[in-house]
Amino acid sequence: MKILVVDDETVAASSIRLFLKRREVRDVVICDNGAEAIELIKQGDFDIVILDLLMPNIDGFQVLEATKPFAPSVEFVILTAMDDIGSAVRAVRLGAYDYLVKPVDNDRLFMAIERAYERRGLRAGLAGSCVRVKDAKIPPAFAAIITRNPRMIELLAYAQIMARSNNPIMITGESGTGKELMARGLHRAGPAAAGPFVPVNVSAIPESIFESQVFGHVKGAFTGAGSGYKGFFQQADGGTLFLDELGELPLRMQPKLLRVIEEQSVVPLGSNKPIPVNVRIVSATTVDIDRAMKEGKFRLDLMCRLKSVHIHLPPLRERDGDIPHLVDHFSRQACARYQKNLSGFSPAAMELLMKKELPGNIRSLVHEVENGVLLADGEQVEPHHLGATRQTVPLSVRTLCSLKEDHYRHVAFVMASTGGDSNQTAKILGITVRQVQRLMTGLRQTPGCRELLEDM
Ligand SMILES: Nc1ncnc2c1ncn2[C@@H]1O[C@H](COP(=O)(O)OP(=O)(O)OP(=O)(O)O)[C@@H](O)[C@H]1O
Ligand SMILES: [Mg+2]
Repeated sequence: MKILVVDDETVAASSIRLFLKRREVRDVVICDNGAEAIELIKQGDFDIVILDLLMPNIDGFQVLEATKPFAPSVEFVILTAMDDIGSAVRAVRLGAYDYLVKPVDNDRLFMAIERAYERRGLRAGLAGSCVRVKDAKIPPAFAAIITRNPRMIELLAYAQIMARSNNPIMITGESGTGKELMARGLHRAGPAAAGPFVPVNVSAIPESIFESQVFGHVKGAFTGAGSGYKGFFQQADGGTLFLDELGELPLRMQPKLLRVIEEQSVVPLGSNKPIPVNVRIVSATTVDIDRAMKEGKFRLDLMCRLKSVHIHLPPLRERDGDIPHLVDHFSRQACARYQKNLSGFSPAAMELLMKKELPGNIRSLVHEVENGVLLADGEQVEPHHLGATRQTVPLSVRTLCSLKEDHYRHVAFVMASTGGDSNQTAKILGITVRQVQRLMTGLRQTPGCRELLEDM
């Protein structure tokens, strides 16, 4: 058992270390400030952290908040002089396991440590009872998340446990790290699995219709409201409401959302009768919501409410060993979709992908692999089939255009990707070769397509 004791009073920390030594716990590290504690927890492999809350500069809450999402299996026992229920609730919400008020007798402390250690063991056991996906143990609800990275597997085991409660969960992570996949997994692993999963991109709802979309309206509520509409909360009743891009939620809308969550009922526009809703809330954001809060763009009360559990998805570059595994998975899928019979990626192509910057994380990797598979002309995908090829550049920039133009561009993209092979193009598009040839005239006259085809 490896324990970290964090307390700005070094004497207190040392005496705990001495006492633990007497109980045969020898692996105890002490530290007297929050900043160092954060570093140690992120780097170390501690089983348990005994944490003081009141410390100058970075306090215990901040330590907990900064580390628990990144080290979910570490158990925190709070040992503090702050004897108020508010702090205890806050600490537990942030993921602390136990809360002891100083002065605490050594036996009680030792019991808390033993219980925390037991819980850690149970968690590891739970991860062990999961289905085996190749060599990795992934809980079945999260089977769509392909990974063999130990940190990710630990995170999935944590998500599996946290999904069981009805507390709101906030998922953070860079673009394309699988936040939506995680949200769907949490829904499947939770008590509302049999209910609906309703994804809502909050940043895409115009402010003017926000309330009617989210809370619904009754017939005749406003001009044009010919019929009633069940808002997202009612649609998700008995299931999960997934609030995507939460960080973009306009400030004016935030108190309205908070009210529904707190009251667990919605009042549709044009009505004054609250309708009870039983909805599990999972939210996701790429935006640093803590910073948004400090900048006054996000309300503290709403954030505390929605972030009662926090799951942070690491970027792909921090998931050692995952790229080859994901490439293998996506290339099989792409081969099946495009009816290509490849044996996979050559070692050189794989190496190139592993070195590549992938700003859209797994989503970027999916695109790279798909393009590689489409372009491959031999047994394997080779390095020259990868990269920002001429085909992807002009088309990755979406412009406002007619459906017809968009249609032509898609055909040109497939045509260019297959190196001008009409047969293959027809197969991918699901049309005849003759139709492809007929479309070529239109393609040559459409801006963006001409250049692609000339380059072929
Ligand atoms: N670990 C994974 N295994 C397999 N596919 C994955 C994995 N992670 C993400 N994906 C795939 O990558 C794409 C992006 O995932 P998702 O939409 O869940 O990410 P996101 O974090 O919500 O992205 P954004 O921030 O852009 O909304 C999806 O096609 C998803 O299926
Ligand atoms: Mg998303």
